Amino acid sequence: MARVIIAPSILAADFTRLREQVKAAEVGGADWLHLDVMDGHFVPNMSFGPGVVEAVRSCTALPLDVHLMITDPLRSIADFRKAGADLITVHLETSPHLNRTVAHIRESGARAGVCINPATPTALLQDIVGDIDLILIMSVNPGFGGQKFIPSSLRKIREARALVTAARRDVFVEVDGGIEPANAASVVDAGANALVAGTSVFRQPDIGTAIAALRRAIAVSA
Ligand code: DX5
Ligand code: ZN
Repeated sequence: MARVIIAPSILAADFTRLREQVKAAEVGGADWLHLDVMDGHFVPNMSFGPGVVEAVRSCTALPLDVHLMITDPLRSIADFRKAGADLITVHLETSPHLNRTVAHIRESGARAGVCINPATPTALLQDIVGDIDLILIMSVNPGFGGQKFIPSSLRKIREARALVTAARRDVFVEVDGGIEPANAASVVDAGANALVAGTSVFRQPDIGTAIAALRRAIAVSA
């Protein structure tokens, strides 16, 4: 199996030392950086917008994986792309005209991802899987870092992997929420090949050691 992507989420980083922490993640072996954008409307929390994405862009060469938890993503795609997003993921729940939104992301030059909440059936991705680069399975209800992994997410990861296999396309299956060394292997075994990790990377004594612990945990599955 190809290398599993580890994408630390800067939501859990110390924002007073963002450059230093981003560098530590890069040096410590992160593959992508995950940036959680929240509008206080689609999710009950606010985080940051394109300005912070641009600031992170100036600190690192790593691909930026931007997760838009916002009610009207179509309106902001160009701004996030301009800020340096390499991959832009929108929520299926926010996008009634998902093909249009995905096409818009692609036209901006970014790769396109679609995310589903824990209560959204995986089957709803069936007619979009042929047009996207990444499926993001939420394994917590979005809005906050540091929540517990919802076990039924494992079934959804398996379903997402089956959709990708049936579509015969190279689409990442990424998982977001509550990922730690103790559950990382089961998530990869279920079919994930990209892991978002906030608390288990940035809220640990050493960022590089924390990434290495995740990598070790999945080494047996890979
Ligand atoms: C949740 C965000 C996640 C979050 C993950 O709304 O989408 O990316 O930062 O944080 P942990 O790994 O702490 O659950
Ligand atoms: Zn996220």
